[in-house]
Amino acid sequence: MRVLAIETSCDETSAAVLRAADPGTRDSSTCPPSLTPAPEILSNVVMSQDEVHAPYGGVVPELASRQHIKTITAIVGEALERAGVGLEAIDLYAVTRGPGLIGSLLVGLSFAKGLAYYHKKPLVGVDHLEAHLEACFLESPGIAFPVLGLLVSGGHTALYLMPKPLEYELLGRTRDDAAGEALDKIAKFLGLGYPGGPVIERLGRDGDAGAFAFAVPRTKDRSLDFSFSGLKTAALKHIRESGLSHGDPCLPGFLASFEEVVAKALVERVREAADRARPRSLILCGGVARNERLRARFRAFAREAGLEACVPSPKLCTDNAAMVGAVALKRFAARPVPGPDLDLDAYARS
Ligand code: KG4
Ligand code: ZN
Repeated sequence: MRVLAIETSCDETSAAVLRAADPGTRDSSTCPPSLTPAPEILSNVVMSQDEVHAPYGGVVPELASRQHIKTITAIVGEALERAGVGLEAIDLYAVTRGPGLIGSLLVGLSFAKGLAYYHKKPLVGVDHLEAHLEACFLESPGIAFPVLGLLVSGGHTALYLMPKPLEYELLGRTRDDAAGEALDKIAKFLGLGYPGGPVIERLGRDGDAGAFAFAVPRTKDRSLDFSFSGLKTAALKHIRESGLSHGDPCLPGFLASFEEVVAKALVERVREAADRARPRSLILCGGVARNERLRARFRAFAREAGLEACVPSPKLCTDNAAMVGAVALKRFAARPVPGPDLDLDAYARS
């Protein structure tokens, strides 16, 4: 079975073709060998809109949906070409329904509905957050349950317990800014461009992560929620008062310290959640999971706790359609649907 998946929830237009593995096969490339082999990614084309939004220091929703409209046909065409198949070889369509920017979601959803309707094939609507979590299973299909997952992106920061495949219990989420949003806002304030995470990582690479003593943000109750707005405000206040700017010799240390405290806050919550939920493995996903400092802190904690850690390769952390196809194949295998559901609707919030 081949799935064509489309992702347009925010500012990346992406299309992918995946082929489901034969149910009886054994994937010996994973350790331990997996009896539930991952689908093969035949193509995963991602077109970023960074250049469109960079002058504004953040995503402009109306520009994002217009850009999706301009590029989606070419991106889907390229995904098919790279996979070496035509639309007649597609058995299933998959598309992100939400959460995300409603106009952007509707572009992908309408496009996918049109294809599925014309070709009389089933269409599976996929939740974006579930897709980020499932990205981990594309490379580590045999990971042991229960799994504790940290999803950290530009729009979301949340902890989930997965007792078994396709089941998610929300353990905690951010009460204000997502971690990626805090990084993006600091970069915007410093005039470093958008998205902020990668530029902060690059400019802070040689900085001393202990140069600035930011307090690790903690919530006052015993919840597993996150909060990044206090930390962001403290950083913005420092920038304003010290006149810190691009080119300042203190900038790398400042950025490295900020990145470090964000990583510490995230891993601290994972530690608390792992103590309570006793998972067998850990996964890290979402765009901020590309960050080397966070990846290293996360893996170090997993080693210390004796837990298996799965951190997807960077291209599967940021928004991409392969992760959407992965969810659709699993959901379709669990509950096949006969044809396209044209009543599928997009949703902005989870
Ligand atoms: O998952 P994603 O592509 O989109 C959302 O669903 O939000 O995540 C985008 C976020 C942005 O906030 C971006 O700054 C952050 O991921 N990001 C990074 C890095 N690459 C992307 N943050 C830290 N370090 C990176 N290398
Ligand atoms: Zn995302």
